[in-house]
Amino acid sequence: MNIQYLKIALCLVVTPVFQMTAQTKGINDLDPVVEHKIDSIIELMTVKEKVGQMVQYNGSFDVTGIPSDIDSKTKLEKLKNGEVGSMLNVLTAKATREAQQVVMENSRLKIPLLFGYDVIHGYKTMFPVPLGESASWDLEAMQLSASIAAKETAAAGVHWTFAPMIDVSRDARWGRIMEGAGEDPYLNSVIGVARINGFQGGNLDDIATIAACAKHFAGYGFAEAGRDYNTVNVGESELQNAILMPFKAASEAGVATFMNSFNEIDGVPATASSHLQRDILKGEWDYKGFMVSDWGSIAELIPHGFAKDKMQAGELAVVAGSDMDMEGRVYEEALEPLVSQSKIDETLLDAAVRRILRVKFHLGLFEDPYKYSDAKREKEVLLAPEHLVAARDIARKSIVLLKNENEVLPLKKDVKSIAVIGPLADDKDSPLGNWRAQANKNSAVSVLEGIKMAVGSATTINYAKGADLGMGERSFLMPLKINETDKSGFAEAVEAAENSEVVVMVLGEDAFQTGEGRSQTGIKLRGVQQDLLDAVSEINSNIVLILMNGRPLDLSKPNEQVSAILETWFLGSEAGNAIADVLFGAYNPSGKLPVSFPRNVGQEPLYYNQKNTGRPFSDMVTYSGYQDGSREGLFPFGYGLSYTTFEYGKLQLSAEEFSGDATIELSVEVTNTGKVAGKETIQLYIHDLFASRTRPVKELRDFRQITLEPGASKTVNFTISPKTLEFYTANKMWEAEVGEFEVMVGSNSVDLQKVTFQYKN
Ligand code: NOJ
Repeated sequence: MNIQYLKIALCLVVTPVFQMTAQTKGINDLDPVVEHKIDSIIELMTVKEKVGQMVQYNGSFDVTGIPSDIDSKTKLEKLKNGEVGSMLNVLTAKATREAQQVVMENSRLKIPLLFGYDVIHGYKTMFPVPLGESASWDLEAMQLSASIAAKETAAAGVHWTFAPMIDVSRDARWGRIMEGAGEDPYLNSVIGVARINGFQGGNLDDIATIAACAKHFAGYGFAEAGRDYNTVNVGESELQNAILMPFKAASEAGVATFMNSFNEIDGVPATASSHLQRDILKGEWDYKGFMVSDWGSIAELIPHGFAKDKMQAGELAVVAGSDMDMEGRVYEEALEPLVSQSKIDETLLDAAVRRILRVKFHLGLFEDPYKYSDAKREKEVLLAPEHLVAARDIARKSIVLLKNENEVLPLKKDVKSIAVIGPLADDKDSPLGNWRAQANKNSAVSVLEGIKMAVGSATTINYAKGADLGMGERSFLMPLKINETDKSGFAEAVEAAENSEVVVMVLGEDAFQTGEGRSQTGIKLRGVQQDLLDAVSEINSNIVLILMNGRPLDLSKPNEQVSAILETWFLGSEAGNAIADVLFGAYNPSGKLPVSFPRNVGQEPLYYNQKNTGRPFSDMVTYSGYQDGSREGLFPFGYGLSYTTFEYGKLQLSAEEFSGDATIELSVEVTNTGKVAGKETIQLYIHDLFASRTRPVKELRDFRQITLEPGASKTVNFTISPKTLEFYTANKMWEAEVGEFEVMVGSNSVDLQKVTFQYKN
């Protein structure tokens, strides 16, 4: 490039002529002015610089994948030369400013770096893990928690989160089930959109918002046997209807980026899948943001047995539409020679760079590359008191009451004595969950602390840990050691139970039992926890079991032993306070399971929206069930009790048929028949009885949340439109097919009333 061009380039990037006041709508709304500016930058770029924009390096802080061996001196040189377009895991206003400075002060074109990080359920202030938060079914609350996470992240200089994960996940063995919204495509869609809106706000250019990333595209949650990174085999109907529905919604919501996934589908690794990335995402859905690879997933095309070397891996990935190489170190090596040897066309690079620059523009980075890196703001914003208030609120909304025999809950505040027992009872770390970003270690309010703050001085608390659960080093990359033998604390726990009116036992999982790579073959309480429960329940059966966990557990035995069960997931910074709010009735539990809880691991993958099969029921053996147990789970999808009761009136349908673009109304009166105010989530499911592709026996397609005072009633209305009925049909499109439908409404996926209607031409 001659010097004249270089001057123009610099001028374009740093002078006000080039400034953009980003009126960001969704990433899919192209602004001709921005597009024109992108064109002029691309024109000035060398191939090396183009490749640079497509390269993402890890910083020197957290490592969230297999560490690569590049030394920091080489890394620095590459930054100076404009050979890196984005970095992950560079945190704090100071560090991001410094890294940005390296690029802005040394590189030829001064294209700002984009900083990404896994902000999965909070940055410093921790909210419930996504699966837990999804149990709130409260879209507004989830949008709020994402917006607070964004505010904190942006204040720490980071522009982009690798969230939300919208992988439909049906297998409790899969460690990453805790990162998404559970087993239902519709729930994943609406929650995904709420989170995207929370992260991105109305305007990406706003310094309180960050770019979001819909991940993992696609099929990652369907890993065989729940083993992380494992092979996925699904056909097109299942891919579209069960897996892609939330991604389509995310694309329509204008999520700024997508991340592809580690798994293969039907013999093609997702990272090299043109079908997924080009045909569907960038083709059919006309998506305009960019696709980042998962950590090293381009290089992993080699062990997959799909590419013979890095050159081929780079070629396959770029041709398939992977725009940015996260720590794979493939694009930086392969793309330039591939272009010079005419194996790929340079326009492929242009297209990828265009998408990446578009996101940088939307974030306002060309206007001010340092705008997010403000140490003063960082100090003010992180862990702001109002963030903790919001964290407590969403945490209590996420708790699911699974059992409440003889109304043992809520506990009276003047209860004389409570035994608080269990390895997780005074754990201030596990409630933070995995993928905890920058949460301070041991910073959560423990259950014991929460209880102590809630009760008066007249209540005696007898605390005994009973046993350890996770032992030794507990960290993101290291395997967790579980205490399988040490029961030396049992006697003290039994004594505490003996001397107390009621026992609160806090059992479940260590935070580092779920998350990436944390798949398990079993889902029972691990270590010596079941033995501890056995020992305590022999002495005092008035037990309230508080579960802390990131996956559905096999609760068959504990369910027989205790009076009440509260599913509290990993609730984040304010866990103990939120749990105490529910324990003592300051908050009436309203959570509903976003995932089925099985009777045993052999039922997995267990999900409510299954197909009927050709052999649904029979008195003989020749039907689709098990000979040694039920095929139904223990607690179904959508299930959750309250301290009050709700009665549903008869379903009223405005018409028994409709056609074309018309709609019909369904209404139902819901009454609070108990003694306290409460919130109910009214769920609507559809069954398309006969279709060009078999449909599940029921599919969630809408829900409403209402709060009712005791004795009060409310009529809840749903509109059923062709959109409610649509699915990916044999015509290879999303549409409603004519025919007979059942519509079911109720308080969970099992307790439902049903009416039928016809949809006609
Ligand atoms: C690998 C994970 O699969 C992905 O979800 C995450 O965003 C990246 N590592 C970066 O940490």
